[in-house]
Amino acid sequence: MSFTVAIDGPAAAGKGTVSKAVAAHFGFAHLDTGLLYRAVGAKTLASAHAVDAAKSLVPKDLENPELRTQTVAKAASDVAKIPEVRAALVAFQQSFAKRDGGAVLDGRDIGTVICPDAEAKLFVTASPEVRAQRRYSELLQRGAEVTLEGVLADVQARDKQDRERETAPLVAADDAILIDTSELSIEDAIAAAIAAIETKR
Ligand code: C5P
Repeated sequence: MSFTVAIDGPAAAGKGTVSKAVAAHFGFAHLDTGLLYRAVGAKTLASAHAVDAAKSLVPKDLENPELRTQTVAKAASDVAKIPEVRAALVAFQQSFAKRDGGAVLDGRDIGTVICPDAEAKLFVTASPEVRAQRRYSELLQRGAEVTLEGVLADVQARDKQDRERETAPLVAADDAILIDTSELSIEDAIAAAIAAIETKR
């Protein structure tokens, strides 16, 4: 039996951490859909045509260590505006969502476009300042040379582009449960997500 959990929200709101923990808690498979767009973005930076890159995506493309950089994040957001790129990635995401045993998908349009019938939908968010601080610490740990101001500007520019695009913009589904992690510890954010999903089981 399938059970789909859709987790959407802006960059660095804690979606990834919450999604992984939720998947582990319920024994569900997890797909970070941002990684698909990052992989297409990275291939496009390396000179492929965006739509071709999306159509020819293979699992190995998701292992590129460069995918977590700010440059690739920006390229991901750029290719994510292209309807044909999004269309090329729909079938894979939908079949992942329907797998036996349950699935958690996190991204921007999971509850609105990819899995509008998901059994549980969460919209995980936090203030831009809190999100920038988290992403900044994460990038520093990876040895990146970044400033907090630069990361805040990148996060805000990417959110704006994701929210204002015409195809599958970042928006909470009407029936999504909102979790603002600005003032929550990681443990509390995870507990809130698990409790919200429990109400749908
Ligand atoms: O989640 P992450 O920050 O890795 O996503 C990178 C970019 O990919 C986002 O800024 C967004 O433009 C795009 N994306 C999307 N739809 C998704 C997941 C990610 O458009 N479901």
